[in-house]
Amino acid sequence: MRKKIVAANWKMNLNLTEGAELVNEIFKGLPPLSEDRRVVIAPPYLHLTQTAAQLTGMIDVCLGAQNCYSEASGAYTGEISAAMLKSAEVDYVIIGHSERREYFKEDDATLAKKVNQALINELQVIFCCGEPLEIRDANTQNAYVEAQIKAGIFHLSELQLKNVVIAYEPIWAIGTGRTATSEQAQDMHAHIRSVIAAQYGAAVADDMPILYGGSCKPSNAAELFACADVDGGLIGGASLKAAEFLGIINAMVEA
Ligand code: PGA
Repeated sequence: MRKKIVAANWKMNLNLTEGAELVNEIFKGLPPLSEDRRVVIAPPYLHLTQTAAQLTGMIDVCLGAQNCYSEASGAYTGEISAAMLKSAEVDYVIIGHSERREYFKEDDATLAKKVNQALINELQVIFCCGEPLEIRDANTQNAYVEAQIKAGIFHLSELQLKNVVIAYEPIWAIGTGRTATSEQAQDMHAHIRSVIAAQYGAAVADDMPILYGGSCKPSNAAELFACADVDGGLIGGASLKAAEFLGIINAMVEA
């Protein structure tokens, strides 16, 4: 049975004290999580060792990073390798977020290399895809997202793919307050699963968690997570407030 996952993407927010407090607040309200439910917290790099210490002993709350570099090591001033993340007890790494693609010009080839680095270092990948508004308006979003997935992860073996989670995040819904409807989310998630099934077979596709991201909040999480192919969420803004993030976690627990 595939897992349901809610992942917090703090982006470039919170200082160390604020981050520690937020994690403590989340712990206080955390519901019991069954084996097929998982929470991931992806703070900025600087927080990772602190957050790792706070998560010690927890098996269903995992540590994530928001990025890693595409090379193994060397003279890349300011970058962080997947091996470093592994040594900091990171479990998951977000790769291909639309903000990385747009502001940092990360292209498909770079992202495929990042995916490789993550997997070589035994990290799980949360691979992001999603279309801009003009593509949605032209109703060509399925082909657009399919191309992102093919370029980013189709070079992987079936075994490697077991360590990949996909996050569908329509760019027009990220941080805008405008969520995809549950029908739009379900349609795209079903499409993504069919794309995976065509390449890797139905069993592999059926096992892969596909998360929705983009203005997900407690008030819409239950409806989104009730969709057959929506297996949780990648949460930005609402992950910065314990009460909101817990509301979304509860929606996942009950889904
Ligand atoms: P949002 O961001 O929840 O603030 O829309 C989601 C994301 O970018 O991962």
